[in-house]
Amino acid sequence: MGTAMGCIPIQGAAPEAVMSVVSSAGNGKITVPSILERKSGVSSQKSSPAKITCLTAYDYPTARLLDEAGVDVLLVGDSLAMVVLGYESTLPVTMEEMLVCTKAVRRGTKHALLVADMPYGSYHSDPAEAVRHALRFVKEAGAEAVKLEGGERRLDLIARLVDAEIPVMGHIGLTPQSVNAFGGFRVQGKTEAAGDQLLRDARAVEAAGAFSIVLESIPRELAARITAELHIPTIGIGAGPDCDGQVLVIHDLLGLSFGHKPKFARRYADVGEIVSRAAAEYCRDVQQGSFPSDEESYHARAEHAATLFAQRK
Ligand code: KIV
Repeated sequence: MGTAMGCIPIQGAAPEAVMSVVSSAGNGKITVPSILERKSGVSSQKSSPAKITCLTAYDYPTARLLDEAGVDVLLVGDSLAMVVLGYESTLPVTMEEMLVCTKAVRRGTKHALLVADMPYGSYHSDPAEAVRHALRFVKEAGAEAVKLEGGERRLDLIARLVDAEIPVMGHIGLTPQSVNAFGGFRVQGKTEAAGDQLLRDARAVEAAGAFSIVLESIPRELAARITAELHIPTIGIGAGPDCDGQVLVIHDLLGLSFGHKPKFARRYADVGEIVSRAAAEYCRDVQQGSFPSDEESYHARAEHAATLFAQRK
């Protein structure tokens, strides 16, 4: 594996030995190596490392607020197709839309690790094209890693990306880009056979050189088993509390999403309610003429103001 400028090869036991990582930036910046160090149960650790916190972000102000709040990983998820663009699945979002949002999040992020989701279709045909798409996230948009969905069948692609110095976050379980194959958004891995397949998928993602893996909507017990076996951190969403970290879609956390609310999507605020109330108050104030007030208006110089008022019809 070659090393690019600004990158250091990590020596040691697998999986770190085959990973592409950026050097530590210091100043509390979260990097790929610092995420790897947050794996629980590593023998060199004296105490349990802090759980990894990850949230989605799709724009500059949200990224700034989440980054300043100390979130470890900001994911420009393809969930933006649903929560921002209003589609019924993640499938329609394009590379260009993902790039625009990743650039905006980059501008608002100083401390968190920035991960961009590869949209449906951007890595499903030609592997060379998939690498080119992933490179765009890094070169043009400033992402520090990419995420893609799938287990065993993505082994070769993940290895290719890692070889191109692009850190990869895997994603297995309820992978939303498989919605048509699954016949809906359903909890995965509930039978023994399905659980065994997910275990094989997780092993493949790790063996290919991914630095972390999202486990989505799978039984807690299965997530705990995968977490115990892997050497890379697991980041759960609907996968119980035993993962090395957690991720939520920011719109779910803020109460800004519509429709079915999965049971794991804890709502920490009702921003939707605040937005609705503020908009209704604004409409009322405009209708009643109380907005804008004189203090909220610019004023002409006194002598000119008098002329202007006198000229009013
Ligand atoms: O797109 C997304 O937001 C995701 C997370 C739910 C992991 O993939």
